[in-house]
Amino acid sequence: MSFALDHESRRRLGYRLIDLINDYFDSLPDRCVQLPLEQRTFDRLTDSMPEVGEDASKVLDDMAHELIERGFHVPAANYFGLMNPTPTYMAVLAEAFVAAINPQLASLARSQLASKIEAETVRWIGERIYNLNANFDGTFTSGGNEANFSALAMALASHFPCQVEDGFAGSGDRPVLYTSSEAHHSLDKSAGLLGIGRRALRRIPVNDRLQLDPAALEQRIHQDLATGFKPFSIVGTAGTTNSGAIDDINALADIAERYGLWFHVDGAYGAAATFSDRHRDLVSGIERADSVTIDPHKWLAMPFAAGVVLTRRADLLQRTFGVSTPYMPKIAGATIIDNFKVSAQWSRRMNSLKLWLTLRVHGRQAYEELIDRQLHLARQFADWVKRSDHFELVSDPQLTIVNFRLRGVPESDVAAANAAIVDEITRDGQRWISPTIAGGKQVIRMMVISYLTGEKQLQGLQEALVAAAKNTSAKAN
Ligand SMILES: Cc1ncc(COP(=O)(O)O)c(C=O)c1O
Repeated sequence: MSFALDHESRRRLGYRLIDLINDYFDSLPDRCVQLPLEQRTFDRLTDSMPEVGEDASKVLDDMAHELIERGFHVPAANYFGLMNPTPTYMAVLAEAFVAAINPQLASLARSQLASKIEAETVRWIGERIYNLNANFDGTFTSGGNEANFSALAMALASHFPCQVEDGFAGSGDRPVLYTSSEAHHSLDKSAGLLGIGRRALRRIPVNDRLQLDPAALEQRIHQDLATGFKPFSIVGTAGTTNSGAIDDINALADIAERYGLWFHVDGAYGAAATFSDRHRDLVSGIERADSVTIDPHKWLAMPFAAGVVLTRRADLLQRTFGVSTPYMPKIAGATIIDNFKVSAQWSRRMNSLKLWLTLRVHGRQAYEELIDRQLHLARQFADWVKRSDHFELVSDPQLTIVNFRLRGVPESDVAAANAAIVDEITRDGQRWISPTIAGGKQVIRMMVISYLTGEKQLQGLQEALVAAAKNTSAKAN
């Protein structure tokens, strides 16, 4: 069959897909997150590449059936998981539209209005983070990993201006940077990929609230300076992956200022709190950061992929990523810079339209309501844990992640006890929570991340947890 489908076929297939998606959305409040344990398989698919095609409606139905009936459902309301949400429906529509018009966001010449929309979306986010009228720039990325990478690349270019062209080979410089023991592993990866080595990332211990300890940080900076290392950056986290902890951003900004270091805030998850007037204080000081990571595909309910890196140092974006090509048409008088000059990417997808459309349709206030409601639900769940006969809270939630564990278990048995609870909860596939280690402690982690999650789902989880606690203690006795 030719790729050039006729009008009626396109329409029929499109409507079929929309019906499938629509039914799927109907199912999400009560949908199982995955198959029961005994039906899960993780082996490779072995079909060979089709030489000829099949009937499109049938393949579409099969595809949806397989992925829905046998897949893993991050968008389900009972997914209390890592930081990925139920996408807004407007975002789903925007994604299909982007694929259809396929703008090449690398350059203004080949995207035009699409690039303007992308720049406007970056501005909308930046105005929440850096405040209205501030000077900043930024770019969409594939996610927090690339955003953190880009920020560290700018930090290096700022401190070692020759490095962009010459690299570090032969320079004798030993650059080092600092972050907390709880910060995301994308920073280790970035340090390795940027050629300064993963060991250049100094992991500083955290306090009881799982925030980077500023006194320990200063001590380590002194030690590094005294031994010939060249500190160039501090990375604070606004919303750690394990517990949602937010570093004392102002204290870190003060230290960065004192030592002349680039201050980056990894707000992949927590920087979205700036969308709530009521809860902006949670990340106060973020506007002092030289650069900020925020992932709309986390708390802003976007489907993959959508990350953003912002910076107050617009010149650094260009200094770090700028290249020129003879084959890219220049546009006289353009006030928007080509994306390929401010980004690690070349060809790029329009990752902004989904957020732009969602904001146009629902407005910023819808995010404020979402953030306020989810913070409330997480705190409500933490209060339940505190009152529970079976579980105890490990740390007070700062955002929408709750860390808890079974009550009264000897320290040496906590990991096994947590694993047993998580196995019990996830065995039937109905809901999803996970074990992790936060601040060196073994914990069970739940997160309110779907806008479809409400009291009904929390109550279901609480009932399942009590049953699991009774079951595991019965097995142990
Ligand atoms: C705090 C933090 N930073 C960065 C990242 C990386 O983001 P992404 O998965 O979008 O690459 C994550 C991912 O969970 C994260 O939790």
